[in-house]
Amino acid sequence: MSEEFKREAAAAALEFVNDGMKLGIGTGSTAVHLVELLGQKVAAGLTVVGVPTSERTARLCEKVGVPLTTLEETPQLDLAIDGADEIDPQMRLIKGGGGSLLREKIVAAASKNMIVIADQSKVVETLGAFPLPIEVMPFGLGATWVALENVCARFGMQGGLALRKKADGENFVTDGQHFIIDASFGRISDVDGLDMALRAIPGVVETGLFIGIASKAVVAGKEGVVILEP
Ligand code: A5P
Repeated sequence: MSEEFKREAAAAALEFVNDGMKLGIGTGSTAVHLVELLGQKVAAGLTVVGVPTSERTARLCEKVGVPLTTLEETPQLDLAIDGADEIDPQMRLIKGGGGSLLREKIVAAASKNMIVIADQSKVVETLGAFPLPIEVMPFGLGATWVALENVCARFGMQGGLALRKKADGENFVTDGQHFIIDASFGRISDVDGLDMALRAIPGVVETGLFIGIASKAVVAGKEGVVILEP
């Protein structure tokens, strides 16, 4: 069911894509539907170029025939469309469950608008039930870990920190060759303050908190598709 909702949300978001647009193309299971549907539209004659937010998305775009560009060739994009792990009423997001938060944030920030696509389960009152992904430098991991523990405790983390691993037990490494630490808050009461405090730690590359970036969420559920705005 949730796959159907994800596909419906992706299809509805494509209504905002016009001929000639430069797109940021997200990562994750919802974004897979987006890329597949976009591929169909391109095959039917739509002219767009996209910047993928991960190597995974790049490979899928190539497979389905979505033309790609880079932020070097095309530094300003019209629209980024991407999934999210949580969406709050102010359109603040937790992203990075799929591990691509840094590229996703760079691409979204380079876009005039960002539309989030999601099934209803991603809409929450308060962020934090989904563990917050924090992308960190491998260098100095021990020191960064201690600093993160202190900041997260100060901001009321109820669970702990976990270094993200792959199924084979090796550390998960991002496309940018960084690690991810997932922080289990339970609930985050001061989202903006937490984001600032985390990003002030030198070993932190980026957080999965997307604040003031998304302008719309296209959300599909049992009641159909709704468009949320902050
Ligand atoms: C990828 O790094 C993430 O930010 C995804 O956008 C997010 O995790 C949503 O993924 P799903 O669409 O798979 O739920």
